Amino acid sequence: MQRLVIEGEKKLSGELCVHGAKNSALPLLAACVLARGETVLGNCPKLSDVYAACRILSCLGCKCVREGEKVVVNTDGLTHFDVPDELMREMRSSIVFLGAILGRLGKCRLSFPGGCELGPRPIDMHIAALRKMGAAIKEEHGTLDCDVGNGLHGEKIVLSFPSVGATENIILAAVTAKGTTVIHNAAREPEISDLARFLNSCGARISGYGENSVYIEGVERLGGCEYDVMPDRIVAATYLSAGAVTGSEITIKNVRLSDIEAIVPVFEQMGCIVCPYSDRIYINAKKPLKAVRTIRTMPFPGFPTDAQAVVMSALTKAKGTSIVVENIFQNRFRHVDELVRMGADIKAEGKVAVIDGVRRLYGAPVRATDLRGGAALVVAGLGAEGTTEVCDIKYIDRGYENIEKAFSSVGGAVKRIQE
Ligand code: EPZ
Repeated sequence: MQRLVIEGEKKLSGELCVHGAKNSALPLLAACVLARGETVLGNCPKLSDVYAACRILSCLGCKCVREGEKVVVNTDGLTHFDVPDELMREMRSSIVFLGAILGRLGKCRLSFPGGCELGPRPIDMHIAALRKMGAAIKEEHGTLDCDVGNGLHGEKIVLSFPSVGATENIILAAVTAKGTTVIHNAAREPEISDLARFLNSCGARISGYGENSVYIEGVERLGGCEYDVMPDRIVAATYLSAGAVTGSEITIKNVRLSDIEAIVPVFEQMGCIVCPYSDRIYINAKKPLKAVRTIRTMPFPGFPTDAQAVVMSALTKAKGTSIVVENIFQNRFRHVDELVRMGADIKAEGKVAVIDGVRRLYGAPVRATDLRGGAALVVAGLGAEGTTEVCDIKYIDRGYENIEKAFSSVGGAVKRIQE
């Protein structure tokens, strides 16, 4: 087991560079299944979830090799259509392989992804859409047995909620379906656009991505391509939160401003000076932080649920009362108890958390409960007096590449200890 040991209240300075986005790399790796021959994914982050996705590709018979910042996938050996249960359990977002495997092989068997640290993770919208497109899906003993019979056909799909995963799965299934598919009330997250751009580079015909309705005109086949994964907007939000909670002045590089338009105003409301440039953003948090009236997590382009925990860490030291409303997941306040152990004054009930700013946080032994909750504890540790020890950091490594090296490179005292 490993843990992070953080000596807090050190000013950060210099530049932090954001790595490739986990939530784009995963669907892109699944999408490689659809492309014949070799695909090269650049700016592919070195994360445990990415490694798990590569293991799934290998189990399917593909070659998947890490070459520095790139992952090279060759699907010439693709023969299997079943994803091992242990890999599905390791990473519930593997459900996004379903659409890709069906689109390429016509059959797929994988275990039901089940709930996770954030609460139930239903896939009813995924299943309903794929069935409407012609897939026969049997759900038995926790396993999904899927077969497209004579092939998938284009359909009009109206999502009851702009689900990111469901939108991705439908796009992946539709790119080689017969006819045109339209998804109304589609998710508009930048990761959806990254997936569409990648697939179009492989020969797909997708339009309207990033808007409410996405159109996919089915094509015969897709070929491999070279593509760079977009930068991780949630890692950028994490670095901004670290700058804010330590009262620092830092520049965050490799950021697409259009991805964080709902995040930047929150830091400005906290009293930070935030200067966006073409591919980087500067934050100066020298003044004491002010509370932010209300933050509501919403589907893109609203405030992202994935940034909720790390921003809350900064708000724990913001003078006044802030309110955070978590509208996307049922159980996404598990980091609150750990922050309270560090002296934060937070009351969470249902989907609302009320944060009363305190003058100081105090280092304490805390436990990562999930990916973004764990990152929030690291952010809080950077802004706390004394030593914070974060255990169960396997969650953090799912979405942050060497988080200790990143913060140490700008003056944070963060060490990874092997227990
Ligand atoms: C993706 O999860 C991200 N994961 C999540 O990031 C992110 O929080 C989420 O989108 C929302 O932005 C990846 O991209 C790998 P959803 P996903 O389908 O696709 C309900 C992180 O920390 N729902 O948009 O699972 C669902 O229960 C992770 O990086 C249904 O009810 O999110 C949830 O309440 C955490 N039925 C809501 O929709 C369905 O069929 C949003 O889920 C599908 C979803």
